[in-house]
Amino acid sequence: MDNLRIQGGAQLRGRVRISGAKNAALPILSAALLADGDHRFRNVPELRDVGTMAKLLRTLGQDVRVAGNVVDVQSRPVPDAVPVAPYELVKQMRASVLVLGPLVARYGRAHVSLPGGCAIGARPIDQHLKGLEAMGAQVVLEHGYVKVEVPSGRLRGAEIVFDMPTVTGTENLMAAAALARGRTTLVNAAREPEVEELARVLNKMGASVEGAGTDVIVVEGTDALQPVDHAIMADRIEAGTYMAAAAATRGDVLLEGVTFEHLEAVAAKMRQAGAVVEREGEGVRVCAPGPLRAASLQTAPHPGFPTDMQAQFMVLMCTAQGRSTIVENIFENRFMHVPELNRMGARIDVVGRTATVEGVDALQGAQVMATDLRASASLVIAGLVADGVTEVLRVYHIDRGYERIEQKLSQLGATIERVPGRA
Ligand code: EPU
Repeated sequence: MDNLRIQGGAQLRGRVRISGAKNAALPILSAALLADGDHRFRNVPELRDVGTMAKLLRTLGQDVRVAGNVVDVQSRPVPDAVPVAPYELVKQMRASVLVLGPLVARYGRAHVSLPGGCAIGARPIDQHLKGLEAMGAQVVLEHGYVKVEVPSGRLRGAEIVFDMPTVTGTENLMAAAALARGRTTLVNAAREPEVEELARVLNKMGASVEGAGTDVIVVEGTDALQPVDHAIMADRIEAGTYMAAAAATRGDVLLEGVTFEHLEAVAAKMRQAGAVVEREGEGVRVCAPGPLRAASLQTAPHPGFPTDMQAQFMVLMCTAQGRSTIVENIFENRFMHVPELNRMGARIDVVGRTATVEGVDALQGAQVMATDLRASASLVIAGLVADGVTEVLRVYHIDRGYERIEQKLSQLGATIERVPGRA
């Protein structure tokens, strides 16, 4: 297993191009199951999770070719009587559950391994299943698999009220509704930009989806969809991560190709902390000329502060002046980076869902262990800021969601290298 070795102390400077969004690419690739023919997806990030989705589509009989950032999917009917998303793939990537909506809509049945809990929380999928049931599906759980069957053969439109906004739940039901009979209304839907991006793709395929980006989405079902050619939007969480790295190292970085509107909550908090965040052409410039100040926050569904940026922002707070509180409202166990940051000299206390961060003068390099994707990103930023050498172990987590992170950071002046693991 590879590790990342970072010599701290460099101020990041220069330009970095932000890659396509992982969490938009995954539902969009799954949506290829909705229509036979040749799909082309461009600006797809080269990531482990994209590779896992490609494997899953191949398991379902699809022809998937990945060439750099272009993914061609030649979609054709799934050859098996019951399409199956197997445990081996779902356990590697929970987002595999995104094939459920398209498969049930298209084939009237699917078996998908139930994702277990993960490092950040229990993460049930009851809302996805409740929605499919409201659309006429029968759901049973057997031998670790969710087995979904639509007795009439085709889903029918329904009004579905989510108990909480769920990103992949909204995406699954929106994709399912595109091929259902009649109108589906999703109430209390997730408003994340990735949901909007999927709606754009479904509409390009001939669906009728309105309201994505608000909390009420209306889908008029249609009989058939067409293949699509689409370039994936930029990754707002990758962008936010480089923003945090720029500010934490008191650097000056221009992020290219980002949509500023997707980053407003993050930009507002960074400004409150004393960073300068400016729109510059097709990009965003972040610098931190003076000392950083404590800024408290709570994570919330979009347009609130994203849970996927909580760990990275916490590192900024570690060396800011004063005490900040960070409340994690989305996932119950998303503070796994805290003990590692404390080993690097941070002063963070966690009680329940609240972390209290007391700013310190400096962090110290150490060997630290990554537990999930965003926690790993926070440890890399901590390594950039720390005195001495930091080694982030189990870097495969990072490869799930950050394209060529060591190259991009090196290009910005960091001293970082990938080293083969000893164990
Ligand atoms: N929830 C339920 N029941 C459900 C669905 C969700 O109780 O049926 C709960 C979850 O346990 C959680 C909350 O609702 O407490 C929100 O979860 P959500 O369903 O929105 O999360 P997700 O769709 O599984 C996506 C991203 C995550 C990101 C979250 C929140 C993808 C592929 N994943 O997950 O991304 O943290 O939304 O914004 O889009 C990451 O990229 O590192 C990552 C974890």
